Amino acid sequence: MNEICSRLFEWYSVNKRDLPWRATRDPYLIWISEVILQQTRVAQGYDYFVRFIQRFPTVESLAYASEDEVLRMWQGLGYYSRARNLHTAAKQVVGMGHFPNTYDAIRQLKGVGDYTAAAVASFAFDEPKAAVDGNVCRVWTRVFGIEEPIDSARGKKMVVEVAQALLPEKHAAKYNQAVMEFGALQCTPSSPDCLSCPLN
Ligand code: ADE
Repeated sequence: MNEICSRLFEWYSVNKRDLPWRATRDPYLIWISEVILQQTRVAQGYDYFVRFIQRFPTVESLAYASEDEVLRMWQGLGYYSRARNLHTAAKQVVGMGHFPNTYDAIRQLKGVGDYTAAAVASFAFDEPKAAVDGNVCRVWTRVFGIEEPIDSARGKKMVVEVAQALLPEKHAAKYNQAVMEFGALQCTPSSPDCLSCPLN
């Protein structure tokens, strides 16, 4: 494993939060958590996640619910098209007969983009795909001094390439969780704790 990942994994083993979607390999639960967390901080998303999966514990229960009820469970999270896409995708999955188990197949679901497909494929199936969200972009642009804006196609591509090159093939899930956690807790948008940074 490369040294950046050894340091990152050491940091993660000490600092990681105990979050419910980290205690499962169920692709359905992981997918729900990732869609909720796309627009919401962990502190707020946590309660929504717990309530949502209590009411819809399986992809079938979500697929067979009414759209009204799905939207009611989403009330307050905003971006209601995400809830509608989630509902549509749940019906797609039930039609397929099983949850898709590769990045390419997951990416085909309604509303699922590169980030969510990589997150679900790595967390549930350990597929070696780097998941690159805002946190991850911030970490790698800082570590490697990438100055290209990450809202440009070029900048995003540079970060995805770096993130993918660093990924240890056999530890995709841990790697993606660790980088995200590092971005959320240590390499924060403002006042990052650079003095105690293991990658500095
Ligand atoms: N934000 C998005 N996905 C996350 C995850 N799996 N853990 C913590 N924060 C996240």
